[in-house]
Amino acid sequence: MPKKGVLEFHQMKRAGEKITWLTAYDYPTATFEEAAGVDMILVGDSLGMCVYGYPGTVPVTMDQCIVHSEAVRRGAPNAFVVGDMPFGSYQVSDEDAVRNAARFLKEAGVDAVKLEGGVRVISRVRAILDAGVVVCGHIGLTPQSSGQLGGHKAQGRTLESAQMVVEDARALAEAGVQLLLLEAVPPEVAGFIRAELSIPVLGIGAGEDVDGQLLIVSDVLGTFQAFTPKFVKKYADLAGVSTAALTEYVRDVRTGAFPEEEHCYRMLEGEHDKFAAWAKGAG
Ligand code: KIV
Repeated sequence: MPKKGVLEFHQMKRAGEKITWLTAYDYPTATFEEAAGVDMILVGDSLGMCVYGYPGTVPVTMDQCIVHSEAVRRGAPNAFVVGDMPFGSYQVSDEDAVRNAARFLKEAGVDAVKLEGGVRVISRVRAILDAGVVVCGHIGLTPQSSGQLGGHKAQGRTLESAQMVVEDARALAEAGVQLLLLEAVPPEVAGFIRAELSIPVLGIGAGEDVDGQLLIVSDVLGTFQAFTPKFVKKYADLAGVSTAALTEYVRDVRTGAFPEEEHCYRMLEGEHDKFAAWAKGAG
């Protein structure tokens, strides 16, 4: 499949073709996603929970994001890979934000970066865009600042909250972001933003009326079990399949059912007799 970029995503929006987007954190998953024909891959800071077992995304570092993004890039050379700027990588200053966005491009070869927030991060967004980096905005529920939002709660469910989401979307579009992600907002609000903006508006938990869908691959494949948000559709139960396979392995080793003859490297023809004679002498 030829690699798609921002221009193709804008064309897809105009043509009413849905953009497909999944997170990935490692090489094998990236190869599966590329084989499945996914358009975009997010190396999300959700790796904190899905890979490292942290309680949230806040502890995730730039170095971790770079290592995982590099692996994903190698596994999916033809997908549009987005690096997720972790907490602390853009909050301090515009300079820091540009330096860390540049690391994603130079060290991991990603195609774009994503950062959370609207009006309040607009100077960071402008600085990164001015450096020539493709930016995806992320508004609605923003997990890095969920403490301020009163927890992992859907946003835009009241008039006042919906107006704030729309204001953030407008500010980001005006600043020049090429892509926008809405997380956990009502479909009515998402549809309004999608219709108003010319850039592709993607959703995770934002309903059907958006230009594309994102899900966390660990939810889709059923490897993350701590909690499952309402908007997730599980397509497989890899945790169940994996645990069953590993239980069988443990049982086979304990009972001697594994390894079998087919799993052994026997000595070469004639060598066993020589080895047995040598072993006798050595004993
Ligand atoms: O880190 C991530 O996977 C994300 C999604 C929750 C949007 O930012």
